[in-house]
Amino acid sequence: MPTNTHEDAVAANISTFDEEFASKYEKRESQILLSYLFAKNVLEFDPNKSRKSDEESSKLIGDPSQYCNGLTKENTLPNPLTYEKDFPNGLFKPGMKLLDFACGTGMVTELFIPYLKQPGQKSEIVGIDIGPVFLKYFNERAKKYSDENLEMKSYEYDILNPKLEKKVSKFENQFDVIICTISYHHIHNYEIVTQKLASFLKKGGWLFIIDFYNEDVEKIDLSNTNSKNMKVSEAVQHMGGLKKSSLNHVLKNLSGLINVTSSREFKTFIWQPASFIENHSDEQTVNNLKTGKLKQKDFNDEINYLIETSVIYAIGQKP
Ligand SMILES: C[S@@+](CC[C@H](N)C(=O)[O-])C[C@H]1O[C@@H](n2cnc3c(N)ncnc32)[C@H](O)[C@@H]1O
Repeated sequence: MPTNTHEDAVAANISTFDEEFASKYEKRESQILLSYLFAKNVLEFDPNKSRKSDEESSKLIGDPSQYCNGLTKENTLPNPLTYEKDFPNGLFKPGMKLLDFACGTGMVTELFIPYLKQPGQKSEIVGIDIGPVFLKYFNERAKKYSDENLEMKSYEYDILNPKLEKKVSKFENQFDVIICTISYHHIHNYEIVTQKLASFLKKGGWLFIIDFYNEDVEKIDLSNTNSKNMKVSEAVQHMGGLKKSSLNHVLKNLSGLINVTSSREFKTFIWQPASFIENHSDEQTVNNLKTGKLKQKDFNDEINYLIETSVIYAIGQKP
């Protein structure tokens, strides 16, 4: 449900992402396969190519009868040994600085490490999140992977907290790439957060906002309602601002980024509990849940349902 202030949303998130949630989160099939797809599409991003057409991005990825839709790290992510040759315009290079904002446990962050590590080069990965429990998992990963070629560190910061302004200012103009995966729909003041993230980019650096894309949000006329939290359907109760035009406006007009594009990057199948579907999915999917039309299976004593999900990438570059 939408909350009234940024502080309310932060408090609600900290209490939701608790120990029980974190341990289940890392084992969720949907989380694992989405992580692969999030990282793949960032690693393979080519600034010189146009984004996928609606038709291309509508093809459902994977086979839902298989574990993780049949996706593995090996068959999904680019080969780290030949990445530079296979993706000559790819943004990832040893020696660069990556920020994962709202990094959670770091299960997505971890996937970028093989493309950053090289003897003699010092790369840096920073994770920022408000949640101490998720960051414990991130910090375990940081301990495992940090060495003379990679510094991996986390900060438990609400970057909009005025008391942290000075500490947060050290991130300005620091990062080659910033990613933020499936977190924007949790963030109340995402417009101001985006402006901050843009300020953290180096000149020429790229920001990737990646989130579930409930296509029903395109039905809201934000200019008419002045309510970004407007309820379009039972399903769309949160931050209806993840509309392509709103994301483009925030990235371009409010944050001063260039080469801005927001579009669906891919579609795939995921297994999710009813509570997730009610809060994230489009009206048709919610109706299918209510009328018993979705396939189900048991996951850790919880019934999960098979749904299709779209994922949006909003991308921009610091001039
Ligand atoms: C669904 S999790 C996604 C975590 C991770 N990015 C991933 O893809 O696995 C959402 C994350 O957003 C974080 N979050 C929510 N509001 C935030 C805020 N205002 N600032 C930073 N992190 C926030 C939560 O603590 C949580 O870790």
